[in-house]
Amino acid sequence: MTPALAASLDDVVALYERWGGDNYDEEVSQLAHAEQTAAHAVEAEASDPLVAAALLHDVGHLLALDRGEDDRHQVTGPAWLAKLFPSTVTEPIALHVEAKRFLCAVAPDYHRGLSAGSVASLRRQGGFMSPDEAIAFAEIPRHDDAVLLRRWDDLGKVDGLAVAPFGSHLDLLARVIEAGEPRKRRPPKASNRKRSKRR
Ligand SMILES: [Fe+2]
Repeated sequence: MTPALAASLDDVVALYERWGGDNYDEEVSQLAHAEQTAAHAVEAEASDPLVAAALLHDVGHLLALDRGEDDRHQVTGPAWLAKLFPSTVTEPIALHVEAKRFLCAVAPDYHRGLSAGSVASLRRQGGFMSPDEAIAFAEIPRHDDAVLLRRWDDLGKVDGLAVAPFGSHLDLLARVIEAGEPRKRRPPKASNRKRSKRR
């Protein structure tokens, strides 16, 4: 049985082994969609955490299949991964649905390029962002990673496209887990702050 929270890489692999063969949409399986999305991230020379996010971004769909419950994958997926992976992985995943709504609002032609499945889910997800919502989204840290992830997500739906398999990313996933949270930058010292204010 899938644990309530992923506690090891084995838990993640087991979930994809169990449900990766299910349909993501009418074109590709869950596993093929994950692999293709990750392949676009690798091609773009994304950071290790962002490649991990691309590979695992729809893990919530697999959890929904496993648990037989409603699919709020942008919430359940990152929550399931949070004990194991740093926020550099979970935050872009948590934002990738909102990134679709954002791109619909700010990027001309983006909506026209969406798959039928993405258009259908967009309605359930709240549709295009309003201008105020788009401004607020653009202020969220890592929203830019989520937008990149969303673009790769949209491209990762090609029937029969052969890319690097899920297993080839296991070393990268282990590295990302091992590295953990990135160190926070220290705020500047008070004396520096004063000096920079005077400039
Ligand atoms: Fe996806």
